[in-house]
Amino acid sequence: MEIKKIYIASDHAGFDAKKDCIDILKNLGFEVVDLGTDDNKTSVDYPDFSKKLCNFVANEKNSYGVLVCGTGIGMSIDANKRDGIRCALCHDAFSAKMAREHNDANVLAFGARVVGSGVIRSMCEEFFNTNFEGNRHQKRLDKLGKA
Ligand code: RB5
Repeated sequence: MEIKKIYIASDHAGFDAKKDCIDILKNLGFEVVDLGTDDNKTSVDYPDFSKKLCNFVANEKNSYGVLVCGTGIGMSIDANKRDGIRCALCHDAFSAKMAREHNDANVLAFGARVVGSGVIRSMCEEFFNTNFEGNRHQKRLDKLGKA
């Protein structure tokens, strides 16, 4: 799994956890690009930030994304409506690993009001160090939204 860049974005509710996640990803050795929002006080709409991130991830080879809002739900719903995006809403390390191994997810979403720093770290470690298995899983991905 070659990772060129990890884009990350949040709304106001996800801002503090996003900062934490940026430090974690940098410590793991990844290049991280923060697409906002820029504080936890100004109320913003999560689809604006999901849209921005998904545009980068869908158009840049070997790039991945992390989306953070209060629950992760709004961000993941929005991201999964966008072409070229497979977003996994995860709140544990096992799901984060399987999202890569079986679903070839290219965006990880999580809820800042749901998980703490330790879980964020373990999810990032699993998600960004696990390869897609392909084979039967690719066949299933090919059927997504079709059949
Ligand atoms: C903002 O209060 C909250 O609704 C948002 O961060 C997110 O949890 C939506 O899914």
